[in-house]
Amino acid sequence: MTVSIPSPLTSDADWWRSAVVYQVYVRSFADSDGDGIGDLHGIRERLPYLRELGVDALWLTPFYTSPMVDGGYDVADYRDVDPMFGNLADFEAMITDAHALGLRIIVDIVPNHTSDQHPWFTAALAAAPGSPERARYLFADGKGDDGAQPPNDWESIFGGPAWTRVPDGQWYLHLFDPAQPDLNWRHPEVRAEFEDILRFWLDRGVDGFRIDVAHGMIKAEGLPDVGFNSMTTGRRQSELLGKGRLPYFDQDEVHDIYRAWRPILDSYPGGRMAVAEAWAETPQRLARYIGPDELHQAFSFDFLDATWSADSFRKVIDTALAESTIVGAPTTWVLSNHDRQRHVTRYGDGEIGLRRARAAALLMLALPGCAYLYQGEELGLPEVLDLPDELRQDPAFLRTGESRDGCRVPIPWSGELAPYGFGPAGSELSWLPAPTTWRALSVAAQTGTPGSTLELYRAALRIRHTHPTLADLGGITWLESGPGVLAFQREAGDTVLTCAVNISDAPVVIDGYGTPLVASATLTERDGGHLLPVDSAVWFERH
Ligand code: BGC
Ligand code: MG
Repeated sequence: MTVSIPSPLTSDADWWRSAVVYQVYVRSFADSDGDGIGDLHGIRERLPYLRELGVDALWLTPFYTSPMVDGGYDVADYRDVDPMFGNLADFEAMITDAHALGLRIIVDIVPNHTSDQHPWFTAALAAAPGSPERARYLFADGKGDDGAQPPNDWESIFGGPAWTRVPDGQWYLHLFDPAQPDLNWRHPEVRAEFEDILRFWLDRGVDGFRIDVAHGMIKAEGLPDVGFNSMTTGRRQSELLGKGRLPYFDQDEVHDIYRAWRPILDSYPGGRMAVAEAWAETPQRLARYIGPDELHQAFSFDFLDATWSADSFRKVIDTALAESTIVGAPTTWVLSNHDRQRHVTRYGDGEIGLRRARAAALLMLALPGCAYLYQGEELGLPEVLDLPDELRQDPAFLRTGESRDGCRVPIPWSGELAPYGFGPAGSELSWLPAPTTWRALSVAAQTGTPGSTLELYRAALRIRHTHPTLADLGGITWLESGPGVLAFQREAGDTVLTCAVNISDAPVVIDGYGTPLVASATLTERDGGHLLPVDSAVWFERH
């Protein structure tokens, strides 16, 4: 007898507007088969943990067939699972279970470039200059008498020239690693292919897409020089990221692509969404990616980039909320991801960094809109700064000395010995080693431990889901507060929730906002109010 289990997914097509999305870096989340690499079955086994944590959706980083030169952001087959992560049946089992638990699944799509092992690129290399096979990528002749100079001065985000020469003398463009050739998005076959890939995953039930390098697909006509780069003048082009316009980013025509994608998403039931990883010169230009005929969200990296100061947070929050009013979509908040140093470390590392990170979590989760968590931030994990160089795998490391491996270390689940329950019982393998200090940070060590970061996240997420004020998508009201203190209010009927964050260098007495619901540090009673320690945050409730 087949029993049909009603899915507890809400039918709300606007779920993404206020969701908490948990980013799973698949390779480092949970390893079910003991090869030291996280996999889809591992995620499936840990879904109850995520459900209990209180998130609404997962964003999975790429798990597609890939030579893994850039951690899977180099895709060789967009319609299959890399054997290291499992297979399509594992994906289907995982998404079925996730939906049964009320968790939505967002997958990463990487349209700017393929892997150099993608059949299109191997065909392009085998074909002649000017051939239809080459036309799907950006091949060009070099400069100089013998074409030995790259076609222009563009620089790879990972360092070095953005062009690589092939044996017949032509060059191809790669904004990232040479193993990630850029596609030619002016080619109709490229557009048709990705529309089909979107449908492939939508047909398998995915609830949304995170679009990698969403601002990069269209390059300015004629491929004009930028005018400087680190090879010629020592100034890196990527320093303009988000501060200026580069001829390979944020070109107006990129919006045509999203205007074609949106009807595809809208043709499926249940509120399928897309979030852009996009960098633009101004918040106004970033907002152009969002709207009823383009994408649902774009990450607001300004919040991630804000320094630990009340002014800096207030400024980015106001800007982001103002932009979201213009486009009619609440903004996204993010503190960490797989490309950036973990925020515990950015905020000062050690005990101070952790205190601040916990306060920042309460700040973020009290804001209207969608919050993205990065796996392990609920455990208060710091960046691993002392990974041995020979273990680092980030392709940027060899070219620039900068490495993103320190935020990608497999997360600790339980036990006394590394890798702390990342794999099945007894497994000692993990593709990057966890530091011994992580024993005390494991899920098991923090579960039920009063004051642990994990219990703080659980409590905050529980309140966020049930408190009427936090469901509201309207704005926030800033309150008068002393220097270095952020305080704002959200209201529903006669219930008021106040979030206060003390970023000053002395404890402050907070009075008159009602009962504390959750705090990132211990509050003490003082002068009839509550004493909020330095670098901490609290939510109060009043009726
Ligand atoms: C991803 C990175 C990746 C790059 C190239 C980024 O935006 O988040 O991890 O290296 O795109 O695909
Ligand atoms: Mg595995």
